Amino acid sequence: MIVPSLRTAAAPKNSFALRALSTWANVQMGPPDAILGITEAYKRDTDARKMNLGAGAYRTDAGEPYVLTSVRKAEEAILKRGLDKEYLPITGLAKFTGAAASLAYGASSSALERLAITQSISGTGALRIGGAFLQRFYTAQPTVYLPDPSWGNHAAIFRDSGLKVAKYRYFDPSTNGLNLAAMLEDIRAMPRGSIVLLHACAHNPTGVDPTPAQWAQIQQAVEEGQHLAFFDMAYQGFASGDTDRDASALRSFVQGGKTPVVLSQSFAKNMGLYGERVGTFSVVAADASERDRVLSQLKILVRPLYSNPPVSGARIAAEVLTTPGLRQEWLDEVKAMADRIIGMRAALRGRLEELGSKKSWVHITDQIGMFCFTGLTPEQVDRLARDYHVYLTRDGRVSIAGISSSNVAYLAESIHAVTKEN
Ligand SMILES: Cc1ncc(COP(=O)(O)O)c(C=O)c1O
Repeated sequence: MIVPSLRTAAAPKNSFALRALSTWANVQMGPPDAILGITEAYKRDTDARKMNLGAGAYRTDAGEPYVLTSVRKAEEAILKRGLDKEYLPITGLAKFTGAAASLAYGASSSALERLAITQSISGTGALRIGGAFLQRFYTAQPTVYLPDPSWGNHAAIFRDSGLKVAKYRYFDPSTNGLNLAAMLEDIRAMPRGSIVLLHACAHNPTGVDPTPAQWAQIQQAVEEGQHLAFFDMAYQGFASGDTDRDASALRSFVQGGKTPVVLSQSFAKNMGLYGERVGTFSVVAADASERDRVLSQLKILVRPLYSNPPVSGARIAAEVLTTPGLRQEWLDEVKAMADRIIGMRAALRGRLEELGSKKSWVHITDQIGMFCFTGLTPEQVDRLARDYHVYLTRDGRVSIAGISSSNVAYLAESIHAVTKEN
């Protein structure tokens, strides 16, 4: 684009000179997104054995994207109704947010009556609304502490919301498990009333979730510090296969009632509604009056952001969650997806052990959810791509959902080949 006032009759005609005059001439090229870069490299690879283990999306055992049968049935039922496409209210489809809330907090939770909830553009949008809300109303201690490591987008979302971002220790590379002592130490050292981001289940990228006993200690430390617990629940049902079990940490914090709780929720993974962008952000308020005041402010935040959320995905999720037969079918499908992932973990570990690997691969089956933090070094990851056509992020994270019974042996052989010397 040319600044109009600079466009004179004498303006140079060659493109270089034109570019030098452009308003955006000083905009620097930004780095590509790490995950998308992997997908690009994977697409360019012509080897038949190639594997993309970078993207966090579920694949069937045939390596295909999966549209859940319950979702297809819901879509058909909705289509038959010939509904209009009018705008939703600012906070979205009430039938959806109500059903989503009881899925997360539990149908009998006392929090439901005092919950300020809004539909969101999937989990990312929920986190962004949460960031904006905290930036505006949680001004005393505006630092969000993220686990180290955390989902790559967390820091950017909260920084763009105007919050400060810091880390607490989480992962222990020596065991590929949880460093509970360090985590508790860091939570206790945070300034009183800090914001602590907690992955409700199926931690991304590590696949390391605290046990119920460890969660109890974490809850106690958060409560003692009077910190705010920001739960990010992007994988409800994906960890254990049971949506209630995967929500138990969140529910325990709410039941404790000693610390403020907010939640971002996504239906991208557990309903396979990735591109439909279906989620919620909610704040557990003290009572109905506080709920109404918080909700009024959430509306004021959302209105200038995107006015109101998209309708299609919310209708699908609402249909699945509120139609008894469909809901059960969906719960069975969630369990089947989780079970396939758990099965692939066992197969990968078993094959590595059969190959005589001297390394311990116990963490592959100890970890849970879509991802496994393998412990592979960036150099080993590079070799996997270069010599074996296997693509994953350089932190060694493997999307287990991208493995199938037909390529798990090849993956094990490739990992064994790049790890056996060191
Ligand atoms: C931990 C975590 N939170 C939130 C999200 C948000 O995903 P979406 O915006 O697709 O719902 C993801 C997606 O990968 C995630 O891993």
